[in-house]
Amino acid sequence: MWDWSKSGTRDAARNRLLRRLPGIGTATAYRFGLVERAHYAYGVRRATESAARLGHRGVTVMEFGVAGGNGLLLLAEHARHYAAATGVAVRVVGFDGGVGMPPAKDPRDLPYLFGPGFYAMDHARLRARLGETDLVLGDLDRTLPDYLDTHTRELRDHPVGFVALDLDHYTSTTTALELFRRPDHGHLLPRVTCYLDDLPGTVEQIGEAAAIADFNAAHPARPIGRVLGLRAFTPFDPPWADQIYVHHRLDHPDYPTLETGATGNQLPLTP
Ligand SMILES: C[S@@+](CC[C@H](N)C(=O)[O-])C[C@H]1O[C@@H](n2cnc3c(N)ncnc32)[C@H](O)[C@@H]1O
Repeated sequence: MWDWSKSGTRDAARNRLLRRLPGIGTATAYRFGLVERAHYAYGVRRATESAARLGHRGVTVMEFGVAGGNGLLLLAEHARHYAAATGVAVRVVGFDGGVGMPPAKDPRDLPYLFGPGFYAMDHARLRARLGETDLVLGDLDRTLPDYLDTHTRELRDHPVGFVALDLDHYTSTTTALELFRRPDHGHLLPRVTCYLDDLPGTVEQIGEAAAIADFNAAHPARPIGRVLGLRAFTPFDPPWADQIYVHHRLDHPDYPTLETGATGNQLPLTP
């Protein structure tokens, strides 16, 4: 009853039921978004499809805020699925402080909800299950600029196509957006799908939403905007569709390149 009373839990409960039906194999489960963290699967699908259409052989997907690692492991599982399905190699990278939440630095960090040390990580347990997934530990202030400076070749060959933002704080999200603030373009696809985990239950003037609004005000040629109407054309209109944004990098040299196959190209008059 509780599961069915709320759209998010109803969605997850219904998916678990549907997965048990005979004939629902892995490909069907992915096609209809019946997999765990279907929003991560959606992001990886968009990244791999877009990379393939633009002629890239690889793409990178990132999770900002890893905590225990459940999300990162699922992201890696979805990456393996879409790499096999599309032939595009997918690098998976997670960023986390590794010692739980840092202290809030700004009232917009929602200090009344997230205490220092929340969501600590068991490094040894997570590392043992990571396989080829990269885990970058340390405060983002330092690790993200360092990662971008030292992985230019990997990122050029596998530009970032999907980012899951789950850092809870306004200040940490602002730091993560350094990924999009850099003047060069080589490390990014011209459109980068973003999942914003921390929007529900907040207001636009604090937390993740405020970080996005500040970024947009400062970078009019590089907006991060919610995908309009996504629920209507996603199977089972899942609530997570409202948290899918895309960074449109209008000044990226590949921005106008036609993604062949992304839409039909004729609309003939019906007989
Ligand atoms: C809610 S948890 C992430 C949950 C995870 N995505 C999942 O699905 O299980 C938020 C994480 O953000 C990390 N974090 C917040 N601010 C950070 C910062 N400035 N640098 C590095 N990590 C940070 C914290 O360490 C914490 O583990």
